[in-house]
Amino acid sequence: MVKSNIALIGFMGTGKTSVGRELAARLGWKLVETDALIEKAAGKTIAGIFREDGEIAFRELEIAAVKRVAAGELQVIACGGGVVLNSINIARLQETGAVVLLTASPAEILKRTAADSVIRPLLRNGRDPAAAVHDLLQLRSPLYRRAADVTVSTNRVTADKVADRIIEKLKGYEGLSLEK
Ligand code: S3P
Repeated sequence: MVKSNIALIGFMGTGKTSVGRELAARLGWKLVETDALIEKAAGKTIAGIFREDGEIAFRELEIAAVKRVAAGELQVIACGGGVVLNSINIARLQETGAVVLLTASPAEILKRTAADSVIRPLLRNGRDPAAAVHDLLQLRSPLYRRAADVTVSTNRVTADKVADRIIEKLKGYEGLSLEK
């Protein structure tokens, strides 16, 4: 089967949404954010789901959202940072698309997540954010690496340049169509 989605994975603050927007515009594809699908399905914000229902309930909603979106085509899928925690998500994303890992240094991640308005419960749970980023990265790095077909750093690179690099790298990726 020819793959016709691109899934962007990576830690919080690695630019999945802003790069996704650029990439979708270049390809003429739709940008779909799993967090937005989850909020719509739950009728509340991500922060509200974590607070009222807990992380496990959030992860179940995330599995359902990924299942739904992976069945579509011609989409850039910006995934939540924890999508790699359930291997079924990665299996589904790989079935219909290429999986692109975005990376950034811990310092850059801290700077970006502190600056933007999105509330990320895993970095706002009373812990020192630097320690939380360190620990979560430690735990997740092998999962990100294992899931990725290609990896692109977003350190000191604008989102449009990252989008160009992704397209360059994916041109040689067999089985993926970048046509509209
Ligand atoms: C999470 C990342 C968030 C969101 C939720 C959990 C994670 O998405 O899905 O707060 O576990 O890393 P972003 O990566 O878009 O911030």
